[in-house]
Amino acid sequence: MSSFNYENGELKIEDINLSEIAKKIKTPFYCYSYNHLKEQYSKLDQSINLADYHICYSIKSNSNQSIIKTFSKLGSGADVVSMGELKRALKAGIPSQKIVFSGIGKSSEEIEFAIKNNILMFNVESIGELKKLSNESSKLNIESQVALRINPDISAGANEKISTGKAQDKFGIDWKNAVESYELASKLPGIKIIGIDVHIGSQINDIEPFRKSFDLLVEIIEILRAKGHQINVLDVGGGLGVKYHPNEIPLNVNDYGALLSEKLGGLGCKIIIEPGRLLTANSAVLITKTLYIKNTESNNFIIVDAAMNDFIRPTLYGAYHEIIPIKENKENNLLDYDIVGPVCESGDFFGKKIKLGKIDEDDLMAIKSVGAYGSVLSSNYNTRASINEILVNNKNFEIIRNRIEDDEIINRDKIPDWV
Ligand code: LLP
Repeated sequence: MSSFNYENGELKIEDINLSEIAKKIKTPFYCYSYNHLKEQYSKLDQSINLADYHICYSIKSNSNQSIIKTFSKLGSGADVVSMGELKRALKAGIPSQKIVFSGIGKSSEEIEFAIKNNILMFNVESIGELKKLSNESSKLNIESQVALRINPDISAGANEKISTGKAQDKFGIDWKNAVESYELASKLPGIKIIGIDVHIGSQINDIEPFRKSFDLLVEIIEILRAKGHQINVLDVGGGLGVKYHPNEIPLNVNDYGALLSEKLGGLGCKIIIEPGRLLTANSAVLITKTLYIKNTESNNFIIVDAAMNDFIRPTLYGAYHEIIPIKENKENNLLDYDIVGPVCESGDFFGKKIKLGKIDEDDLMAIKSVGAYGSVLSSNYNTRASINEILVNNKNFEIIRNRIEDDEIINRDKIPDWV
């Protein structure tokens, strides 16, 4: 069930009209549905029928603590990629023994912090990292639990910027070198091998790449076990795709759950899944106000008060995001609009050739499916404020992130007296 529906000509989030929220909160703002987040988590959880598994929410998709806590209360762990994310996860109540630490560039400081916080597992992505982890763990007289992230050389995901599982990508250890890497790991002090890890990409709507990677993992696990390595944890990463375009057919979560059971259910491993986008993408809209309508010979521009610094996916990935007015427009006479922001770049757009009825100045618009990789990718480009984030629960809403006004941003600059 969508949490965003028109009722009496007004777009609602759960049980509130978005126009009501916009009377109290300055536009633009992100607006999340609490119940959508919970439903997505439960839907995934219910599709999995394994004896032992953790959902470790990939908090890079949205690291607001209210959102992390929403999942944590439903039993989620976390996949983190920095000390900052690890701190957020802990602060939002995720038990350290449900946290996995991924990423190709962990610093000594980050490793030490994670060791001291007793996380479940390091997903190690290179031999260099393995040696650094061995050193740091030995210094602290601790054995760190490790999975090696294998690069399976499988192509998947919406576009090349978010593909991670091809041989030429910077991630993981070439699967062909897996056995020798495990041999090395088993000899290093401070390292305790417990598992294996893979992540092939993001926004994957076709189940086949998952099938291929699971098949490869099963083969590798058999070889590793035959060599005496303890592989008790299998982290299959995230990447589960969602529906952005009305004609897009998203990954069927139940098929994914069935595939996990079919391929991995008999391994006797704890299975870890690291979904990000699946849990958050369709939980939110970005509400923005029309500043100007500008019709040129070639285009009809709607200039809105949100910009690429608030939400960059269309610019960065050419990603499609549905854009609809807050007041339902049932006109048949549709125009092609380019919806653009105030930032001084032609790349500052949210949609091109979007068919809409008549739009006027001050009309509110909703940019859909912005819950994942939305606010986390925002910046203050053009010295624009960081915008509010709102969480709605039935009829109620709360601010879950305050605006940072331009003055605060400006005041971070320091001018040495010799300038
Ligand atoms: N695990 C690892 C190791 C990852 O690198 C990622 C995402 C995930 C899990 C979560 O993937 P998800 O379930 O969300 O697909 N900014 C891009 C997406 C970058 C994904 C990076 N890694 C976008 O807006 O499409």
